[in-house]
Amino acid sequence: MEKLIIEGGRKLTGTTTIHGAKNAALPILAASLLVRGKHYIHNVPHLLDIKVMVNILRELGCRVEHLDETIVLDSEGIHSHHISKTLMQQMRSSIFLMGPLLARMGKVQFYQPGGCAIGQRKIDLHLRGLEALGATVSECDNTIVCTVDKLVGAPIKLDYPSVGATENIMMAAVLAEGTTTIYNAAREPEIEDLQNYLNIMGADITGAGTDTIKIHGIKQLNKQDYTVIPDRIVTGTLMIAAAVTQGNITLKNVNPSHLSALIHVLRRCGSQIEVDGDIIRVSSSLRLKPLEQIVTMPYPAFPTDLQAQIMVLLALSDGTSMLKETVFDGRFKHVEQLVEMGADIKVADKIAYINGVKHLKGSTVYATDLRAGAALIIAALAAKGTTIIHDIHHIDRGYDGIEHYFNQLGAVVKRLSTSAVVNQ
Ligand code: EPZ
Repeated sequence: MEKLIIEGGRKLTGTTTIHGAKNAALPILAASLLVRGKHYIHNVPHLLDIKVMVNILRELGCRVEHLDETIVLDSEGIHSHHISKTLMQQMRSSIFLMGPLLARMGKVQFYQPGGCAIGQRKIDLHLRGLEALGATVSECDNTIVCTVDKLVGAPIKLDYPSVGATENIMMAAVLAEGTTTIYNAAREPEIEDLQNYLNIMGADITGAGTDTIKIHGIKQLNKQDYTVIPDRIVTGTLMIAAAVTQGNITLKNVNPSHLSALIHVLRRCGSQIEVDGDIIRVSSSLRLKPLEQIVTMPYPAFPTDLQAQIMVLLALSDGTSMLKETVFDGRFKHVEQLVEMGADIKVADKIAYINGVKHLKGSTVYATDLRAGAALIIAALAAKGTTIIHDIHHIDRGYDGIEHYFNQLGAVVKRLSTSAVVNQ
């Protein structure tokens, strides 16, 4: 196991370039199963979640290499429709393989994905969507089996704009007979990226980015190379870190239009944000202002994946704020860790009540999930003294070498094995 040792009281300054989006790359890698042959997917970061997806694709029979930032994936030799329990439990997003495997193999079998640190993570909307396209879903020996003779397009209304369910249905419908319309679809940029990838391979999909997506089924796709969009959550994490440490940073290879909700919040808190094409500059010199209330909602509202990070900013702002989490039912596990560092936060009924404090203190804390871990790094950068963060494998799931990112911006973040002694 590894830990991060972080020196507090450091402002972030300088320039860095953002890597590709985990949450766009994962469904796009899954979608490559829809067509035989060798695919080149560019701008794919080296993350634990990507490694798990690569291992699952290999387990299914694909040949996969991750060279620099490009995945070379040959989906010719798929020989299995079964996702192993070990790999399924390493990454819930393996659920994205359901749609493509069903379309390619007519069958998919996987283990009931467990809940995780941020909530139940149900999959009923995925299963109901695939059933609407003609699949039969059954359970046996704690596995879920979906089978279908022929996928047939249908109108599907999602009870909730689930990102994964929207993507799974799109990937199953693209080779179905007839037209599928998804109502109350999720609108995240990663869904538009998936639509763009499928369409350059010959699919006929419109509406991604809106709440209604129409997929006209086609007979077959033709493989194409593709470059994944930049990671808006990594971008937002660094923007918040610059604001919290009263620094001044420039981020390259970003898509500012994917961050409108965060840019609005940071400006209301008193940060200066400059947008210039695919570059964003963030600076703040004053103690930031509190916000009466921030509510996390599906895109384009404020993203749940930046909730833990913005909580750190509010915990150091000059007053009282409220932060409401409406997407996941268990995404406040970082509060206890922030309180350990001296934050004044209380949680009741999915709302965090935050009283800004003058400063946080360096402590020993634990990452409880991917974005909570990133938030602890931000808190540690602003704290007085040194912080040790354990369980950083959570962070590595979504950030490609996070300490290099921050050190490039003037931080002092060291990665050590847990057994290493730290002279404090
Ligand atoms: C995607 O997860 C992202 N992951 C998450 O990012 C992100 O937080 C989430 O969308 C919301 O934006 C990937 O894209 C790999 P959902 P997903 O289905 O698809 C409920 C990160 O930090 N729901 O939109 O799993 C569910 O319980 C990760 O990078 C059902 O009830 O999210 C949750 O409360 C974390 N039934 C809500 O919907 C279902 O069948 C949102 O889930 C599916 C979901």
